[in-house]
Amino acid sequence: MIPQSFIQDLLARVDIVEVVERYLPLKKGGANYFACCPFHGEKSASFSVSPTKQFYHCFGCGVHGSAISFLMEYNGLGFIDAVKELASTVGMEVPQDDFTPNHDRARDQSLTEVMAQATRFYKEQLKRSQVAIDYLKRRGLTGEIAARYGLGYAPEGWQALQAAFPDYSAAALLECGLVLENEQNRRYDRFRDRIMFPIQDQRGNVIGFGGRVLDKGEPKYLNSPETPLFEKGRELYGIVQARQAIRDQECVLVVEGYMDVVGLAQFGVGNAVATLGTAATPNHIQKLLRLTDRVVFCFDGDAAGRRAAGRAMEVSLEHLADNKALSFLFLPEEHDPDSFVRAEGPDAFRAAMTRAQPLADFLLAELKKEVDVSTAEGCAKLVHEAKPLVTRIGAPLLRLQVIKMLAESAGFTQAEVEQAFGLKQASAPPPRRFDEGNSFESGFNRGFGGTDGGDRPFRGKRRQGSDFPRMTPRQTPQTALETLLKLVVQHPVWAARLPIDLLSDHSPEGRALIAITDAMSVGDLPTQGVGALLEHYRDTPHADLLARMAGQLADSAFDDAQIEHLFNDTLNKLEADAISRQIDVLTARERESGLNPAERRQLAELLLHKQKLRVRAKVSDS
Ligand code: GTP
Ligand code: MN
Repeated sequence: MIPQSFIQDLLARVDIVEVVERYLPLKKGGANYFACCPFHGEKSASFSVSPTKQFYHCFGCGVHGSAISFLMEYNGLGFIDAVKELASTVGMEVPQDDFTPNHDRARDQSLTEVMAQATRFYKEQLKRSQVAIDYLKRRGLTGEIAARYGLGYAPEGWQALQAAFPDYSAAALLECGLVLENEQNRRYDRFRDRIMFPIQDQRGNVIGFGGRVLDKGEPKYLNSPETPLFEKGRELYGIVQARQAIRDQECVLVVEGYMDVVGLAQFGVGNAVATLGTAATPNHIQKLLRLTDRVVFCFDGDAAGRRAAGRAMEVSLEHLADNKALSFLFLPEEHDPDSFVRAEGPDAFRAAMTRAQPLADFLLAELKKEVDVSTAEGCAKLVHEAKPLVTRIGAPLLRLQVIKMLAESAGFTQAEVEQAFGLKQASAPPPRRFDEGNSFESGFNRGFGGTDGGDRPFRGKRRQGSDFPRMTPRQTPQTALETLLKLVVQHPVWAARLPIDLLSDHSPEGRALIAITDAMSVGDLPTQGVGALLEHYRDTPHADLLARMAGQLADSAFDDAQIEHLFNDTLNKLEADAISRQIDVLTARERESGLNPAERRQLAELLLHKQKLRVRAKVSDS
């Protein structure tokens, strides 16, 4: 099986426009690209490719999908071949698919046991190697910290692990990445004469290793390969050891290296974790933001550090929330966190942390570096360059602040910048009130389903008629869940805002939403566009429904602000419906048998809550 993380990395690396362009001449029209559809005969260009959604869709025949499905359809390839083909265009190597196809818990368990055994062996070897002990001492580490992080030593020799594993030819050793095989199928240890840093998952299982050479040698760090247990873009080194300190300090520090984490811990800065030799991924960001509300990224002060910070900022934008704070700490050029804390001490390090640059500041500073705001051209360029970043900020209030700051820097009014960003609504939205039946659903249908041909399933669907009490016969409604699903497919990060307790699994939409919130809550949800989301749910019961939802999105006539408004409205509606149902139950009981004082109080509270929601809906409409 090709790991899902690889599929997502691949889709993040390729641009669907470039992929399609190799086969079809594309013409730009608005935000999208168009061509005559290769999958049905036609003369007008109904085939559209969206660079922001990384998704194609034909308004004529309804085909749609990701860059991978395009290659499958166009070239008649199977899934694996399409992935290989796509990977080769960006020079990525598909991990070998010699693992059993389905996730095999028993196998994983035995691999975990193998890794635990190896960890014990390496730890034991450290005690016996004076050279390795001396090395760690020279780096200022005590035995206590070495034990806390489970540090070990992989001895010299080609088959040292044989001492720990009598069956050195076991398949599990290869699957775990502990041994390699040469052309003659002879096995040898991957890690030899290295300090071993065990990498643990959040439950504390060792899933991989980083191995450092003692002093000089290449490569300086050798990491476990990706295995059924270990996917690099998802793990944070040191998370188990840091958890308590993160909770206590309500802050997590993200650094680049194993030694940084361990070195900081040595000086009492225990809340640090490291990404594993990769840039921070969306999955990392989601994990970090779930740990705590304050995330400080620490980078070296050089150009590479600023570039890495820029990437971390970009992948964070969608995940921001108004109650979360991300900031960037740049160390003096000659230092990394380990050397800094050693030279200056923990207090100096903590003081530096409090001076970390907030994300919004960093974003604006980076943008301004590129332009000269004393010229009209520079001001225009500043806003132009800012648009794709600022509009992705997932925190509405922070986004507003950034827009204000940006407007000021560039000599525009806030309204002008919002207009330029497509965030101001061109005309007033249709009036929306909960009690007015389906007025906003019909607005949604107009926007999303307009060219849908009229015979697509969702138009005729009516799952819960009671949601829409006063409907005119010709209007075909969507349930609130259907609306939410459609919006979440377009903006997967909004899944974090879904009220889990109000989602019911009685409909396919409800089940899909529950699956999406579940994936979100474990940091598994791809957020790089519709195409990536569809790939994540390929071969699941939700695949068809999600693909259909995605297809209906492609011709969205709404801008982002309207869509967000609709999302909030629908959430309100879901809540209002739940409250109405409870009110109905209580009023019926009141008529029949009367209410006890507690029930009467509950009814009053519900009525008040409903009133508040109504006011909220009116405010958000004006
Ligand atoms: P020390 O030199 O031991 O202090 O480590 P460091 O953390 O300062 O090293 P550096 O800044 O060079 O690297 C930071 C992180 O990048 C390491 O922790 C590794 O995860 C990764 N890394 C560094 N060098 C290599 C390498 O040669 N190969 C691989 N795969 N990863 C590396
Ligand atoms: Mn270092």
